[in-house]
Amino acid sequence: MSASPEDLLRRELAREKAARRAAEELLEQKSLELYQRNAELEREVGMRREIENTLREQAAALVRSNGDLEQFAYVASHDLQAPLRTISGFSQLLVRRNADTLDAESQEFLQFIEDGTKRLHALIQDLLAFSRVSRSNLQPTAVNLQAVVESVCETLKLGPEAAGAEVIADALPDVLADRTQMTLLFQNLIDNGVKFRRKDVPPVVRVRAARHDSTWRIVVEDNGIGIPPEHAERVFTIFQRLHHATEYAGTGIGLPICKKIVERRGGRIWAQAAEPGPGTAFHIEIPVQPPLA
Ligand SMILES: Nc1ncnc2c1ncn2[C@@H]1O[C@H](COP(=O)(O)OP(=O)(O)O)[C@@H](O)[C@H]1O
Ligand SMILES: [Mg+2]
Repeated sequence: MSASPEDLLRRELAREKAARRAAEELLEQKSLELYQRNAELEREVGMRREIENTLREQAAALVRSNGDLEQFAYVASHDLQAPLRTISGFSQLLVRRNADTLDAESQEFLQFIEDGTKRLHALIQDLLAFSRVSRSNLQPTAVNLQAVVESVCETLKLGPEAAGAEVIADALPDVLADRTQMTLLFQNLIDNGVKFRRKDVPPVVRVRAARHDSTWRIVVEDNGIGIPPEHAERVFTIFQRLHHATEYAGTGIGLPICKKIVERRGGRIWAQAAEPGPGTAFHIEIPVQPPLA
C-alpha cells in the first residue's frame, strides 16, 4: 500500500529538518574553526609585531653605535697625529745627532721606532680616510669610470712599464656618482689586485661594467692569490687582513672603505673567486639612479 499524502509530507518535512540541522551543525563547526584560526592569526600578528619592534630597536642601536664608531675613529685618529709626530721627530733627531756614537744595536732599536711610527702614521691616515667617507658631502655628477681607472693607474704608478702590472679596462661608462668616492673605490680595488699578486705571475687587473635594467654591474677582477671563500665576507670588516704586514703591506681599511662607498651609493659589493681562477673578482652593483641623500 502506498503512503498517504500526509505521511509523505511528514517524511519530507522530517528529511528537510534533518538536513537543516546538519547544515547548522556544519556552520557551527566552521564558525568554531574560523574563530580558532582567527585567534591563532591574532597571536601570530602580535608575535610578528614584537619581532618587528625588536628589529627596529636593534637597527636604531646599530646606527647609533656605527655613528659612535665613526666619531671615535675621527677623533682618535685626529688626536693621535700630534704625539706621533713628536715621537717620530725626536727619534729621527736622535739618529741624526748621534750617528757616530750610537752602537749598531741602538741604531737598530731606533729604526724599529721609526718603522713603528710609519706604520701608525699609515693607520691613522687610513682611519681618517675611512671616517671621511661617511662624513663628506656627496656631489653626484656624471663620472666617467674609464677616466677614473686611468687616473688611478697614474696615481698608483701603474703603466705598461710598471713591474709587469697590467690594468685592462675598455670603454667604461659614465656613472652618476661622487667623483672622489669613485676614485677612492677603484684605487683601493686596483691597488689590492696588483698587491696580492702570485709569486712569479705578473698581475693583471680587469675592470668591466655593464648596465642591467636599472643597475650598473661592475667587476674588478685579478689573477692574484685569491681569497678563500670562508673569508670573503670578513675582509670587508675594518682591520681584517688575511696576511701579516711583513708579507703584504697594508692596514686592512681599504675594503671597508669600498664597502662604505658602495653602500652610501645605494649598492652592494662582494668578493668571489675569479673565473677562471685563481684570483679574486670584486662585484659591485649600484642602482643607475643614486639614492636621495
Ligand atoms: N685582490 C685581492 N686578492 C687577494 N686578497 C685580497 C684582495 N683584496 C683584499 N684581499 C684580502 O683582504 C684584506 C683586506 O683588504 P684591505 O681592506 O684592502 O686591506 P689591505 O690592502 O690594507 O691589506 C687584505 O689584507 C687581503 O688579505
Ligand atoms: Mg687594500
